[in-house]
Amino acid sequence: MSTPHIAAEPGDFAPAVLMPGDPKRAEKIAHTLMNDAKLVTDVRSMLGFTGTYRGKPLSVMGSGMGQPSLTIYATELFKFFGVERIIRVGTCGSISAQARVGDTVVAMSAHTDSHINVARFPEITFAPCASWSLLSAAMRAVDELPEADRDRVHVGTVFSEDHFYFKVPGLLERLRAYGTLALEMETAALYGVAAELGREALTVLTVSDSLLDHSQDMTPQERETKFANALTLATAAALC
Ligand code: HPA
Repeated sequence: MSTPHIAAEPGDFAPAVLMPGDPKRAEKIAHTLMNDAKLVTDVRSMLGFTGTYRGKPLSVMGSGMGQPSLTIYATELFKFFGVERIIRVGTCGSISAQARVGDTVVAMSAHTDSHINVARFPEITFAPCASWSLLSAAMRAVDELPEADRDRVHVGTVFSEDHFYFKVPGLLERLRAYGTLALEMETAALYGVAAELGREALTVLTVSDSLLDHSQDMTPQERETKFANALTLATAAALC
């Protein structure tokens, strides 16, 4: 059975899916974590893999960039492929002095300038929220990180923005004043779909750049490789 965007059979996906934005990163994660990863879908080059990690089934699939793209894949995985939990593993731009390039940000909740959840609840302000069981499993895995990195994990709110380049003047300063850690482009939608369909979701991000000081920004190559700590927390959540 195929859906418009995923050509696979229901049993082809594990109950837990790690979801980076970039399909090539999905391929790299699949082959880094698993010896037996098999390609299960490649519609529009949005690669999805399934194998076993620490003896349990695990899938990895790209989401594309932005909330509409992620929403399509997450909805189809949850509704038609038996997926129970999605853990987004991506990069983010820090707007906080605490979250430095290379650090890990775990998103408890996500503000957004998108209409994507307003469409669900025009009459109230919906609160997109991480799954507590996934979030707490990720935090228990902080002990598995190299000792020097254990205080480089930050938990809080992120801003899921629709524009990567256009910034509303003054908005980031206000979000920072309200404790927001970082910018990315998918989490508010992921948490909205999971809530709609009664499933679990979590976002674990690696800080790739800082909007406060661009001198430390990762190169495109570093963005592809420096996410080991995020993967440790994300796999712990996936298999909890
Ligand atoms: N905006 C959105 N996503 C990002 C950014 C940003 O500035 N930096 C890294 N991911």
